[in-house]
Amino acid sequence: MADGPSDARMTYGGYLRLDELLALQEGPEGYSPAPSNDELHFIIVHQTFELWFKLILRELKEARTLLTQSKVEESQIPVIVHHLERVSEIFRLLADQWKVMETLSPQDFLAFRDRLGTSSGFESWQMRELEVLLGLEQTQRVGGMDPLAHMQKLSEEGKVTEEVMKAFEDTNEKPSLNDALNAWLSRTPIHASLPESEGDEATVQAYVDGHLQAMMDHGEQVIAHMVRIGHGTEAGVRPRIEAGIEGARTFLLPDGKPHRGRAGLLFIESYRDLPLLSWPRRLLDSFVELEQAMLLFRTHHARMVERMIGRRMGTGGSSGVDYLDATTKYRVFVDLWAVRTLLVKREALADVSNAEFYGFSSDTQSS
Ligand code: HEM
Repeated sequence: MADGPSDARMTYGGYLRLDELLALQEGPEGYSPAPSNDELHFIIVHQTFELWFKLILRELKEARTLLTQSKVEESQIPVIVHHLERVSEIFRLLADQWKVMETLSPQDFLAFRDRLGTSSGFESWQMRELEVLLGLEQTQRVGGMDPLAHMQKLSEEGKVTEEVMKAFEDTNEKPSLNDALNAWLSRTPIHASLPESEGDEATVQAYVDGHLQAMMDHGEQVIAHMVRIGHGTEAGVRPRIEAGIEGARTFLLPDGKPHRGRAGLLFIESYRDLPLLSWPRRLLDSFVELEQAMLLFRTHHARMVERMIGRRMGTGGSSGVDYLDATTKYRVFVDLWAVRTLLVKREALADVSNAEFYGFSSDTQSS
């Protein structure tokens, strides 16, 4: 059989399978009476979200495949960034899409809310797979609400297909994007030293010690400045500055030894002007961007829900808005957020050794 274009004319409706797609808004089989205009709106908004979730999963799986290589080629980083940026854009769009939902008045929603029974967005398995794919830890979830156990239960009752469970388990078994990111970060060249380089441990230790020293020196300046301008006493300010430095020490030296991934992350963030680090830093920025967009999406959902049902319980049995607000505290890329607290202005940092390794040599030669 030829692989080329078929002789049959491709139509818009045929390509998009519009007949099938547009026949799916009437509610479950045998649903009677048929959905009102408001309920149709409710169904379409949900379906649209789920379609976007499908694309988000696909984009992020592509990104994960690229990032889990034992060596990520430099040329692949812009491709990963591209996938992440698309997902952030989709989340921004979705965060705005709650506005359309808000055109439903609370009273109009109540008119058909009972028909939903116990069904709830809480059961969106694409959303759950997405969280696991990103790397949200079970321990971070709001206590008492266990969506993964709930999914298992639905599967046992035959309400989630085997195919869905298989895709979910596959995602669960593979490294998450956060795992892949951390593995990649742990291979960051620090002052041109790679994990396999001779003396790498000593180089990383010296780098971390140097950074902590820069933080302490800067801390002393801040204390002196605050006291001088009357923004507090030394007794008030010092403990806060020292607690920050202690936090940095625990972050960089858990178990007393340098954490190579975190040291790599700090190095990229600190020396982000080095040409070789420009794409790695964009990659980090795109992860932060993605998580921020997702958190705003969660926040907007919670505000829409508050407007729609007030402080009522959710159809999924949660406390409702309080539960949704608690999920806005979730952070997957914890280290990327944490490192911000440790940054020191560029002038206070030591110069990078072997700058030519990071791409300054050609600049020097051409000038
Ligand atoms: C009138 C509109 C809506 C209301 C009142 C509402 C309400 C709620 C409530 C109260 C919860 C908490 C779980 C529960 O007890 O049910 C929830 C969860 C959720 N909703 Fe909505 N929702 C609405 C529309 C949507 C739409 C359009 C989507 C898009 C797919 C959606 C997606 C979700 C998701 C994914 C969760 C799980 C959040 C989590 O556990 O992290 N919701 N919703």
